[in-house]
Amino acid sequence: MSVHSSANIKRVTTHTLQEMKHRGEKISMLTSYDYSMAKIVDEAGIDIILVGDSASNVMAGHETTLPITLDQMIYHASSVVRAVKRAFVVVDIPFGNYQGNSSEALRSAIRIMKESGAHSVKVEGGSEIKESVTRILSAGVPVMGHLGLTPQSIYKFGTYTVRAKEEAEAQKLLEDAKVLEECGCYAIVLEKIPAALAKKVAESVSIPIIGIGAGGGVDGQVLVVHDMLGITQEFKPRFLRQYADLQSVMKDAVKNYVADVKAKDFPNESESY
Ligand code: KIV
Repeated sequence: MSVHSSANIKRVTTHTLQEMKHRGEKISMLTSYDYSMAKIVDEAGIDIILVGDSASNVMAGHETTLPITLDQMIYHASSVVRAVKRAFVVVDIPFGNYQGNSSEALRSAIRIMKESGAHSVKVEGGSEIKESVTRILSAGVPVMGHLGLTPQSIYKFGTYTVRAKEEAEAQKLLEDAKVLEECGCYAIVLEKIPAALAKKVAESVSIPIIGIGAGGGVDGQVLVVHDMLGITQEFKPRFLRQYADLQSVMKDAVKNYVADVKAKDFPNESESY
């Protein structure tokens, strides 16, 4: 049964997420990039839907998240927002639309909020984007941070391996989490860092910490929906738990359709007018 069958759907807000951290209830978060998927994910009871710039990989087939544009993110986000009745919808501000220029950051955030109807934006980085984060927050737009492996900086890192294994990087990450909290961010995603460090961050700040490849000691978990449903099969990092094999299900269905068409079995009489 869908969680939406009850008459009153109570929307998830930043306040709900804060309360969940305080009472120790884990926060569930998945990506979605289109209306049909977002409807399924929302009706299944997810707390946060992230319209991630991973749409650049998953939807558009690019190698990195860098090429996706603000207009394309707004298109994906508005499709998701039309489907969602309960979840809190967060949208990534894409690469090049917020770093180094706080006025542009504010403009980008306002475009996302106004044109898509989403509830929040997400940005990658710590102290180096403090001015942009503060400016966006000053307009009343909730900001989610993202530290650790930040895919928009992939050409600086060189690889997608685990981040912050060395003491200096771990210390900077912890300080950046505190900077984002002090700025007023309501939550932070930690991607691909040691579980012990992620747990320490979650215990050091009062805002929810959502992990991806960051172990179980944080306040919630996020995955890319196409990866956890097994629609994408090329990407199998250790942190990914695959809950279905939809690629096989979908391929078999298409193969059966092709065979039925070729055999003149589809459509039959009852499927015709
Ligand atoms: O874009 C995305 O999907 C993300 C998640 C991996 C957190 O940022």
